[in-house]
Amino acid sequence: MGLTIGIVGTGTMGRGIAQIFAASGNRILLHDAREGAAAEARDFVGGMLARLAEKGRMDAGDAKDAMNRIEVAGKLEALASCDLVIEAIVEKLEVKQELFSKLEKILSSHAILATNTSSLSVTAIAAGCEKPERVAGYHFFNPVPLMKVVEVIPGARTKPDVVDKLTGLATEAGHKAVRASDTPGFLVNHAGRGYVTEALQLLRERVAEPADIDRILRDAAGFRMGPFELLDLTGLDVSGPVMAQVYKQFYQEPRFRPSPLIDQRLSAGLLGRKTGEGFYEYPDGKKAEPG
Ligand code: NAI
Repeated sequence: MGLTIGIVGTGTMGRGIAQIFAASGNRILLHDAREGAAAEARDFVGGMLARLAEKGRMDAGDAKDAMNRIEVAGKLEALASCDLVIEAIVEKLEVKQELFSKLEKILSSHAILATNTSSLSVTAIAAGCEKPERVAGYHFFNPVPLMKVVEVIPGARTKPDVVDKLTGLATEAGHKAVRASDTPGFLVNHAGRGYVTEALQLLRERVAEPADIDRILRDAAGFRMGPFELLDLTGLDVSGPVMAQVYKQFYQEPRFRPSPLIDQRLSAGLLGRKTGEGFYEYPDGKKAEPG
């Protein structure tokens, strides 16, 4: 019998996380601050599971069972029976701290609190809790069902068994759990600064166009996606604040300085796929290859 897992914040990441853990046999309770959002997420995940079954990538009965394990929790209090709550809400320290502090009053003492933060300190999020030893980072990547890796990040006071439990759960869901320490950007977003920040620097210095930089890094260096394709997929509204946070937390270390191109493009609404234009254009949602 699986766990009861609460997911707070049912946007891009919360939905993906719900899908993989429902598919691996857990009961999922979805909660979102916006009225109707959790129900939309439930339908969305149901549609994804049904499509997997249609394509023969999942047994139809299993997909139906997974769907039936997902419930909407209208109020936060409805998460009281959860063994684990994963938050994927807005990337703001005070908002995440406030949520965890409310959850601590609702959940049993054995429940684990996990944050999907991409750039905030797990230790700082846990600092607002009465029991910071049960808080850890659980950093998934978009799209969660396809990106089969997750960083498990203990804060300064997290107990080792919390890390072990999160690792085991991810493994059961077919994800590779990688332990990373609670440093700015953890592992992937730290290493990613070299990839994305340098690519933006190349663009700013007019060394090459985005499509050429992407092509070289894909074809010659073996990356699955070039840095500009990746930025467009993630959305500058998500990756811009991550860059700013990592820079800030490293005390303005020059190698992490975000490119001025980011703020300019954010102001222009060139966020990437989600706005139809980023470094590439996406008429009808599909990427138009530059000539
Ligand atoms: P999103 O904007 O798609 O979804 C966030 C959801 O949280 C929304 O439905 C919103 O209504 C809800 N929400 C906001 N404040 C809330 C609160 N106080 N209580 C309950 N619900 C609340 O955001 P997304 O992209 O899913 O990101 C969520 C978290 O995951 C952020 O911390 C982000 O940094 C992190 N993350 C995002 C990645 C990405 O590529 N989008 C990748 C890895 C981590």
